[in-house]
Amino acid sequence: MAGSLLGRHFLKLLDFTPDEIRGLLDLAARLKADRRVGRRGARLAGKSVALIFEKPSTRTRCAFTVACIDEGAHPEYLGKGDIQLGKKETVADTARVLGRMFDGIQFRGFAHRTVEQLAAHAGVPVWNGLTDAWHPTQILADVLTVQEEFGRLEGIALAYAGDGRNNVARSTLVGGAKLGMDVRVVAPKALFPEPDLVATVRAIAGETGGKVTVTESVEEGVRGAHAIYTDVWASMGEEDKIAERIALLKPYKVTRRMMELTGRPEAIFLHCLPAFHNLETDMARQHPEICEVEDEVFEGLQSRVFEEAENRLHTIKAVMVATLAG
Ligand code: CP
Ligand code: NVA
Repeated sequence: MAGSLLGRHFLKLLDFTPDEIRGLLDLAARLKADRRVGRRGARLAGKSVALIFEKPSTRTRCAFTVACIDEGAHPEYLGKGDIQLGKKETVADTARVLGRMFDGIQFRGFAHRTVEQLAAHAGVPVWNGLTDAWHPTQILADVLTVQEEFGRLEGIALAYAGDGRNNVARSTLVGGAKLGMDVRVVAPKALFPEPDLVATVRAIAGETGGKVTVTESVEEGVRGAHAIYTDVWASMGEEDKIAERIALLKPYKVTRRMMELTGRPEAIFLHCLPAFHNLETDMARQHPEICEVEDEVFEGLQSRVFEEAENRLHTIKAVMVATLAG
């Protein structure tokens, strides 16, 4: 049985046991079922939550906001340029001020150190809504989606193809290993996750019955995969690397052929979103080769990307309820 997460921060999945992660997934599933029948709770009634965003967001911002409202809390959006954080005031000072006014703080931004500093000084739970290093709430939604599809996580093969060292890939490795999955990163060597992290997740997988593979070979990496997962090739803050990434990652684009290489007609496609899958956005028109997934796959029957996006709401709600209400 997982213990209570009351009062805990949620900065990265490495800080949580497999049982604690499974407890959050179970809670998210219950909250989702309740919402489906129109049942909203009051688990966060009377609480206020600060939402700090240094980087833009659609899903994470909206999931935190709607989750607060569903459970009776007040969300306060603090965007880049709205507050003094790091410019005129230290992170530690901002943390101590917000911690006296709010019951919990979400941070999305660049340096992971910033969210750690907030957590060290706020005195209330701090949740990581994405840093350059980690995107832990995303992975809860991803694995919930996989669990809904296949009824289990242990032994399920999840192949992440693309930039293997970004926040989503790194978090997928940790989450997959903790949950006993057969987790793979399929990427060019130049974009492999760092060896220390790979060693850490291999050790975790050794305890959970999971498996970790990091490979340059698409054929090897996706063979037998139940799910293929990808993300943009240049993350927020890496816009100057787009041309270099296109050159490196073109062979790792998710195509119908890659889905077929799994050998599993029931395999699903996942993407954290936002995605480049056609040329209907400004950035894609500027860089026509930027698409990390074919439109045919993104829009196809194997795609679960919008189920996954909805699951951001239920899983983020679970994180807030577990850490603020127990
Ligand atoms: N997947 C995700 O974090 O989306 P946003 O950047 O829109 O929050
Ligand atoms: N790796 C991406 C994830 C976006 C949700 C980024 O950091 O921009």
